[in-house]
Amino acid sequence: ALHNSGSSPLQGKSVVITAGPTREKIDGVRFISNYSSGKMGFAIARAAEKRGALVTLITGPVHLPAPPGVERLDVESALEMNAAAEVFFGKCDLFIGAAAVSDYRPATPIEGKIKKGAENIELTLVKNPDILAGFGRQKSSAQLAVGFALETRTGLDNARKKLAEKNLDLIAFNYFDRKNSGFDVDTNILTLIGCDGMTTELPLLTKDAAAEKLLDAIEQLCLERAL
Ligand code: CTP
Ligand code: CA
Repeated sequence: ALHNSGSSPLQGKSVVITAGPTREKIDGVRFISNYSSGKMGFAIARAAEKRGALVTLITGPVHLPAPPGVERLDVESALEMNAAAEVFFGKCDLFIGAAAVSDYRPATPIEGKIKKGAENIELTLVKNPDILAGFGRQKSSAQLAVGFALETRTGLDNARKKLAEKNLDLIAFNYFDRKNSGFDVDTNILTLIGCDGMTTELPLLTKDAAAEKLLDAIEQLCLERAL
């Protein structure tokens, strides 16, 4: 593609971002979920759109307006998010997994409402597909896969493991701290790890500023690979 000199390598690129939590039905009125607010994914979508990308935001249930100019697809469960994402696997330039996808879902959601009775009941959970790993498995050398790893303090090695196992180009180790970083707050502490091992610790930033830093790193990757 032809770019104006000085324009972003993301200009005109098709970018798919997953965001928010998923909900996994227990019965007709109850679900398993997590505290993800969607703020990080939405911030990335807004920032990418501003750099000229064609952005599709696949989001679980959140209380956020879609950034202007971004195509928003609303889903509820991990299976729905996976199905919505797979449509773009073969045709997007960049896939960013920012969603807090529920790792497990109830094996057999009950129709209607479970009635109170026994003192103890059991709920069997089965594993959900790993959406980002699915993209990583089948991506071409012209496509980039970027993920997050939500970890507590000692998580840097886990983040590196996820980068390798999911065949990612870049991962953001997301330090989880209830007050400043992770779910449902406006700031984040990220460490960016490239597939070449390059590690960049970012300071405490607003999620908007962290999104800009992440996109700077992705642009750098695009330039290095002539994408
Ligand atoms: N992810 C995904 N689909 C899943 C689980 C995770 O796409 N079913 C993505 C997330 O969006 C994130 C990355 O994979 O970009 C890492 O998610 P995380 O929960 O940190 O790691 P997991 O691989 O699920 O491992 P664990 O929760 O055991 O740490
Ligand atoms: Ca997980």
